[in-house]
Amino acid sequence: MKLSRFRIERLNPLIKMKSFLLAFVLLALASSLASAFDPSPLQDFCVAVDDPLHGVFVNGKFCKDPKLAKADDFSFSVKKPGNTNNAVGSNVSAVNVQQIPGLNTLGISAVRIDYAPYGQNAPHTHPRATEILVVLEGTLLVGFVTSNPNNTLISKVLNKGDVFVFPIGLVHFQFNIGKTNAVAFAGLSSQNPGVITIANAVFGSDPAIDPGFLAKAFQLDKKVVKDLQNKFWMDSN
Ligand SMILES: *[C@@H]1O[C@H](CO)[C@@H](O)[C@H](O)[C@H]1NC(C)=O
Ligand SMILES: *[C@@H]1O[C@H](CO)[C@@H](O)[C@H](O)[C@H]1NC(C)=O
Repeated sequence: MKLSRFRIERLNPLIKMKSFLLAFVLLALASSLASAFDPSPLQDFCVAVDDPLHGVFVNGKFCKDPKLAKADDFSFSVKKPGNTNNAVGSNVSAVNVQQIPGLNTLGISAVRIDYAPYGQNAPHTHPRATEILVVLEGTLLVGFVTSNPNNTLISKVLNKGDVFVFPIGLVHFQFNIGKTNAVAFAGLSSQNPGVITIANAVFGSDPAIDPGFLAKAFQLDKKVVKDLQNKFWMDSN
C-alpha cells in the first residue's frame, strides 16, 4: 500500500509532463484544424471597416471600435427579388460580410434566391460552407451528389416551408419545376462560403483548359468542347 503510493508520487511528475505534452499536441492539432474553418470570434463581434484608422483589432478584416457599432452594421434587406431575366432563370442576392459588416468573423452568411418558372441554380459547390435552404414560395427540385466512387444523387422536391441541407463541398443544385416564380432563403456556415460553378470552372476558365484534354476527360468531341468553351457562363451561387 505504502509502496504503491510512493511509486505513484514518484511517477507523478512524469505523468504531468506527459499529459502536458499531450495537451500541447492536441492544442496544436486543434488550432490547425480550426484554421480550416471560419475562426471562432475572440470578441462579441467585429464589425468590418475598410479604413484601419477607424479600426481596433485585425482578424481578416479590420474591426470597428465596438463602441461605435450600430444596428445597421448587423442588418440588410433582401425584400426586393433579384432579376431572373437571364440564361439560367435565377438570381442570387448574397448577404455576406460585404452586405453585413457585422457578421465579420462570425462564420455565417445567407442568400436569397429567386427562380423564374423552370429557372435553375446550376450545379455548383461551396468550398467553405454547408448550406441550409428553406423554400418561401414555389416548388423546387433540389439535390446534391456524394463523393467518389458512389456519386449518389440525394434529391427531393420541396414545397413552401420545406428545408434542405447541402453538405459542405458537395456539388448541388436547385430547379424550379413549378409554373410560378419560386423564392428560397439559405444560410451558409461561413462568412465567405465561396462558389465554384462546375460548368464555369471547367469550360469557362481563363485562360481556357486545352480542349483536347477536356474532350478526353469528358468523352466528348473536341468540337463540342470548343462550342462549350465559347459560351458565356453566368455565375451562379
Ligand atoms: C440579379 O438581380 C440584380 C437586381 O435586379 C441585378 O442587378 C443583377 O444584374 C441580376 N444578376 C443576374 C446574373 O441576372
Ligand atoms: C458505395 O457503393 C458501394 C458499392 O455498391 C457500397 O458497398 C457502399 O456502401 C456505398 N457507400 C455509400 C456511402 O453509400
